[in-house]
Amino acid sequence: MRVQVPPRAFYFFMSHPIQVSASILCANFAKLGDEIKRCEDAGVDMIHVDVMDGHFVPNITIGPIIIQAIRPLTKLPIEAHLMIEHPSLYLDDYMDAGADIISVQAECYGPLRPGCQELGQYPKEVDEIDVKKAKADIDRIHAKGKKVFMVVNPGTPLCFDALLSNLDGVLIMSVNPGFSRQKFMPSVLPKIQKLRSIYQGDIALDGGVNAVTAPEAVKAGVNILATASYFFGAENPQEAVQYLKRLG
Ligand code: DX5
Ligand code: ZN
Repeated sequence: MRVQVPPRAFYFFMSHPIQVSASILCANFAKLGDEIKRCEDAGVDMIHVDVMDGHFVPNITIGPIIIQAIRPLTKLPIEAHLMIEHPSLYLDDYMDAGADIISVQAECYGPLRPGCQELGQYPKEVDEIDVKKAKADIDRIHAKGKKVFMVVNPGTPLCFDALLSNLDGVLIMSVNPGFSRQKFMPSVLPKIQKLRSIYQGDIALDGGVNAVTAPEAVKAGVNILATASYFFGAENPQEAVQYLKRLG
């Protein structure tokens, strides 16, 4: 009798079911409490807060006071995706406001490539990072009992292998950060595959996630899907979340 051996991916998704993270960038900020409830009712697994400073990315959004405001409204984990220069200066503010996961951009820890070093030059990209500097921030985040994800922009390679064992996850950007409703960049799929071949931790995807792009990303190895416009624009958000979760 021929024994059918399930593919490796089967074992991975058995232990890492697909999680959906709702980015409130597309929420109605005049009714943020109701929007958080909408996330909970739809079955999302975490709340993703896009923090932008107008320097690291060409847009300004929100700071720790919003995290502080939504913290008492939900038991869902809150992730602060820090698209800001000098994250080290603000880690405590976001952790003390109630964020459970701090996501820091790799580009904040390395020499920026020529062409994106000046104010107003985007996207920020690096080829290597200062491992010691990044490790110091990772340790500070862990010391407060929080989780840390390393985020990598589409044009930045996986340049932090030495830190993988210190991370709780990696967040792959599939758009150049700054705005929601951008088009998914399929060029990041090989990066996901490469990372999954060497890393068993959480791999999250952020940017242009929808019913068409998510299956490919999950196939490549992603197990957390962050979405703003697909979730908040869905006629039936619960169905949208269920669809994404079933991809596993
Ligand atoms: C982009 C942000 C994303 C964004 C995703 O800079 O980090 O989290 O909100 O938006 P959608 O899902 O619309 O691409
Ligand atoms: Zn984000």
